[in-house]
Amino acid sequence: MSFPTDFLWGAASAAYQIEGAASEDGRGPSVWDTFSHTPEKTFDGHTGDIACDSYHRFEEDLEALKLLGVKHYRFGISWTRIFPDGRTFNERGFAYYDKVVDLLLQNGITPWVTLFHWDTPQALEDEGGWQNRETARLLAQFAGVVAEHFHGRVYHYFTLNEPQCFIGLGYEAGWHAPGKTLSGAPLLTCWHNAMLAHGMMVQAVRKADPSAQIGLASCGLGCVPERESEADIEAARTAMFSFGAYGNFTLFSQNAFLDPALFGRYPDHPFFDSPEITKEDLAIIQQPIDFIGLNFYNAYVVRAGKNGPEQVPFYRGSPTTALRWAITPTMMHYCTKFIYERYQLPVYITENGLSCNDKVYLDGKVHDPDRIDFLQRYLRELKRAGEDGVDIRGYFHWSLIDNFEWADGYKERFGLFFVDYQTLERQPKDSAFWYRSVVETNGENL
Ligand code: NOJ
Repeated sequence: MSFPTDFLWGAASAAYQIEGAASEDGRGPSVWDTFSHTPEKTFDGHTGDIACDSYHRFEEDLEALKLLGVKHYRFGISWTRIFPDGRTFNERGFAYYDKVVDLLLQNGITPWVTLFHWDTPQALEDEGGWQNRETARLLAQFAGVVAEHFHGRVYHYFTLNEPQCFIGLGYEAGWHAPGKTLSGAPLLTCWHNAMLAHGMMVQAVRKADPSAQIGLASCGLGCVPERESEADIEAARTAMFSFGAYGNFTLFSQNAFLDPALFGRYPDHPFFDSPEITKEDLAIIQQPIDFIGLNFYNAYVVRAGKNGPEQVPFYRGSPTTALRWAITPTMMHYCTKFIYERYQLPVYITENGLSCNDKVYLDGKVHDPDRIDFLQRYLRELKRAGEDGVDIRGYFHWSLIDNFEWADGYKERFGLFFVDYQTLERQPKDSAFWYRSVVETNGENL
């Protein structure tokens, strides 16, 4: 069996992680500007001020996409370029994205726009950020303005990228911007406002462009069975959707986002018991969408125990990436399948990849066999998901080029292309040529 003939191959990025040009053409500061400029918040004080300078070098990113032969590019539009303080419109902010979209289209590459990849305007954060419902309304307004602007040119949108991380890491764990450590009711307020933003954004985009396809990009706890037995598979499925059962922070859960967005209800857990959550709000959150995007990196291994699912500890020396994330390829099969069976919508892998300690070798090339091996394992399992009946439509590699990895700064390299941060030159790694052959053969070479 193969990938379907119309399977989409792509690559992904996000505005703050690649663009730089932090204060050009009227862009306002976002929470990530503030956070990265606060001592000791990011690795070695790294910021996105310059990042990969994609704002001035999109033509080079385009060459990278062309070398890969991908026909789809997922990228972000920065909220604070278009609304520098969240409220005031800045027409100039569109110039860069007009160029990006037009060049992509001229080269037969379909733009997939992420509307929110964590860059809340600092001015709104000063009014409470995600603790304030107004943030949701203003984000939806931005989404509508973008969809109207690109009507006839962009047909694919993602609302929120990983609320599990921008709320979970940003407002619960405090590791990401804005660095808050809330719990209980105030944390739920942030979460609920983010969910409302998703629903309102879907409404705003549909209103601006009824022909647009809209989805979301979710992450969260993934669980894979230890053995391929019915009992372990069921244990993994149950564990994956048990809110708050595992992990470092409560909100790292797929169903905390997908249940309200698709079923109009929150998981059955005391965290969500609150008079703040009304039927009317849930109706706003539950909007028809066209697809689910999944950002898949690593999972827990689970088995059936006497008292329900049990997490299987990773054995000493088990494989990890440079970020020390476990390498768990079967998640591409099982977790995709669990999501598809539960929510019954077409699925795209909107992110997958790994950080390696990439460098330029003596021969002047960037050899990254670890990335190739990782991808080969993960993509084989994705193929298996398709064979197993999952409506899997496409795969976007994270990331096109090395970039600003949030609190880890430039220490981590996720790209298929190496970025020399002194010269800002991009150079294909071995994996770029390898991925090109995957794209060319529609995965037949895996
Ligand atoms: C999740 C995020 O969407 C992206 O911004 C980040 O760089 C990658 N995963 C890797 O951590």
